[in-house]
Amino acid sequence: KISTFQIPERGHYKLLDNKDIDFFSSILPSHSILTKDLDAYNTDWLRFHKGNSSIVLKPKTTEEVKSILEYCNKEKIAIVPQGGNTGQVIGSVPIYDEVILSLQNMNRILKIDSSQGVVWTEAGVILEYLNSFCEEHGWIVPLDLASKGSCFIGGNVATCAGGVRYIRYGSLHGNVLGLEAVLPTGEILSDLKGLRKDNTGYDYKQLFIGSEGTLGVITKIALLLAPKPISQQVAMISCKSYENVLQLLKDAKQGIGEILSAFEMMDSYIYSLLLKHTPRTRNPFTADSEFYVLIETSGSNKDHDIEKLQAYLENGLKNNVITDAVLALDQEQANNFWRIREGTATATKSEGYVFKYDLSLSIAKMYDLVRKTRERVGSLGYTVGYGHVGDGNLHLVVSTNEKEKAHRILEPWIYEQIQELKGSVSAEHGIGLLKASKLKYTKSKVMIENMKLMKNIFDPNGIMNPYKVLNNSN
Ligand code: FAD
Ligand code: MLT
Ligand code: ZN
Repeated sequence: KISTFQIPERGHYKLLDNKDIDFFSSILPSHSILTKDLDAYNTDWLRFHKGNSSIVLKPKTTEEVKSILEYCNKEKIAIVPQGGNTGQVIGSVPIYDEVILSLQNMNRILKIDSSQGVVWTEAGVILEYLNSFCEEHGWIVPLDLASKGSCFIGGNVATCAGGVRYIRYGSLHGNVLGLEAVLPTGEILSDLKGLRKDNTGYDYKQLFIGSEGTLGVITKIALLLAPKPISQQVAMISCKSYENVLQLLKDAKQGIGEILSAFEMMDSYIYSLLLKHTPRTRNPFTADSEFYVLIETSGSNKDHDIEKLQAYLENGLKNNVITDAVLALDQEQANNFWRIREGTATATKSEGYVFKYDLSLSIAKMYDLVRKTRERVGSLGYTVGYGHVGDGNLHLVVSTNEKEKAHRILEPWIYEQIQELKGSVSAEHGIGLLKASKLKYTKSKVMIENMKLMKNIFDPNGIMNPYKVLNNSN
């Protein structure tokens, strides 16, 4: 089997023996240690890599995490923290035989401050569950992604996940008010005051947001919430050109910016895959188009919001920016539109092996790269473009049954294009193992060296998620 990514050699980590198992058994109850049927823990969501770990530890408390890390650090045993295992860059699974530290049992929501909209939670709470809990108190989690039914809030913070409402609520770098993390030394860095403002020196929590398990284990989080919208409207739009999409985005930001909560683009190529592979979807349009946009508004006054959205759509139709638009009349129609958009990761995967590029680019040039790639790939694969265009984030995916040939055509060419365009090789999915050798196309040598120095301060024995993000390929 030929790999399309580089796997570094196994580091000099200790191989587990009975003494280690005895130690884990002395600190965790037997139901928190798994040693059988570990395929689901060893294999990543895209099925790019299957590790060979023989043990999954599921601590329930910060103290248990501390004991595990302290011990593994002393014995030089490598660890991979795992949340919902929905990551897209081979970050959450062992490359060799690393101990899997699953956050599955740290699944309690600790407290909510309903007056200020702040929630305190353990890292293993499923995003959708956390959001439902907050909704009962009049708030929402300011983050939404199609994997919400499986991913954990700790995994979201560890990857600094973006998602479909970033355009409205911004980054987790702004919304995480504090966190608790256990370092490999067993030290606990805890800042759970939940303050909005705190300029008292280095803001270390920012290092953990997007650290992908390479510095320590995030165990608790204090998260700023957004008010639960009273009115939510969803429309699906079709248009002829990418220039139309850009005009629509500008009009949306300027005309309905205060209620805009999603602006998601899909080209005709992904749109047809979505209709083919996503169950229970209905195409609201009778005619085909080049581009589709799902637009959502979230506000506090239904009549006002509908009126504004309708005026926006009518204006687009009048100016020939929009070919057709359908405003969801009920929740079922809105769900149908979201189901279409949220099927992207599964639909592309269903077509073959995927080369997934999760790029940050200046939006003016963004779609040119999809066209160029499609031309280059030709009949070797099926090239689609979609994503969070309002945030300058394009998902460019090539699904293929000609993995090796497509790989040669695509890489390093595509990364050179991104570098030339001064983009980022990862807008939201992170680096993991998959993109480690590609970091250099976005980060300078000095930056990477300093990242390594930083990693070394927190994790001098390199036991935390080795091979991921930083390794000798970068
Ligand atoms: P995992 O996949 O288990 O882990 C991800 C990384 O974080 C790993 O490196 C792991 O070691 C580390 N980690 C996990 N928990 C901890 C912890 N407690 N402490 C320290 N390190 C930890 N991503 C987006 O950004 N935007 C999207 O719109 C989006 N949509 C998606 C849609 C689908 C259908 C799928 C399958 C994935 C999507 N993703 C998206 C990717 C993925 O869901 C996110 O990266 C998510 O944040 C991962 O959370 P998780 O709990 O599954 O983490
Ligand atoms: C998305 O935007 O749907 C996700 O990032 C997952 C993907 O399709 O790759
Ligand atoms: Zn995305």
